[in-house]
Amino acid sequence: MHQPLYPFSDTLVRRLREAERVAVLTGAGISAESGVPTFRDPDGLWQKFRPEELANVEAFLDNPTLVQGWYAHRRAVVEDVAPNDGHRALAALERWVVGRGGEFLLATQNVDGLHRRAGSESLVELHGTITRSHCIDCHAPAHESALEAGPLTCENCGGLVRPDVVWFGEALPEEAIGRATEAAAMADVYLSVGTSSVVYPAAGLPQIARQSGAYVAEVNPEPSDIAWRLHEQVRGRAGDILPEIVGALGAAMPRPDEPLP
Ligand code: OAD
Repeated sequence: MHQPLYPFSDTLVRRLREAERVAVLTGAGISAESGVPTFRDPDGLWQKFRPEELANVEAFLDNPTLVQGWYAHRRAVVEDVAPNDGHRALAALERWVVGRGGEFLLATQNVDGLHRRAGSESLVELHGTITRSHCIDCHAPAHESALEAGPLTCENCGGLVRPDVVWFGEALPEEAIGRATEAAAMADVYLSVGTSSVVYPAAGLPQIARQSGAYVAEVNPEPSDIAWRLHEQVRGRAGDILPEIVGALGAAMPRPDEPLP
């Protein structure tokens, strides 16, 4: 029996070759193969704590030590892991598109910083980053190191220190969501990778792309909440599929030990 060469269509490869603008959305799934737990999978971060218990400002004000501790744990996990082939393939795709004179934007919901560490440059972090923190009162940048006995407070004014992430009930950084929305609306090809697509406005981006005429494909071992609205569902792990897409385009994959540009 004839086995297709790739688990994705020729159309996807052709549309990428023809594309002038490519945009990508990623979620926790792309970092799963690095060892960062996702949120909603069976061993995910939300199995122990509900989002409403930890990822919102009321929870933080009620129990800052618990919330700071949760982020300190996640920061330690992230510092201990490395970008995987999925992250590297997206950095390679960016170089390939830009090298041909095209435009590329990667919008990530992840706060782990792994895309930047893998070499992605045209990047917006829709939900912020856990690598930075600030004071909730004077907004001064703050350094969150190892967790202390009590809640961590600002050196300037004594206010509570929180990570630079977006919590439930908070608006996304305007510039980030603006750039991501524009890139989705202008894209010729849009890839949605490793996201369950249940959190908006990020989950709206592939749908904006589709409505605006892009060819939209999802890379995920499981169908996301919006999979049926997209052109193509590529079933598999990001770390396997994305390097294959890059390979099918003839683009060079960076080696794990390659220095960042
Ligand atoms: P989820 O945990 O909701 O979804 C992870 C997705 O990754 C699922 O669809 C999995 O099937 C898929 N997945 C698992 N392993 C994969 C792999 N190796 N390759 C590709 N896909 C894989 O995470 P997100 O969709 O990122 O927001 O969650 C969205 C937002 O919800 C997060 O940014 C966070 C959370 O609340 C905030 O904290 C504001």
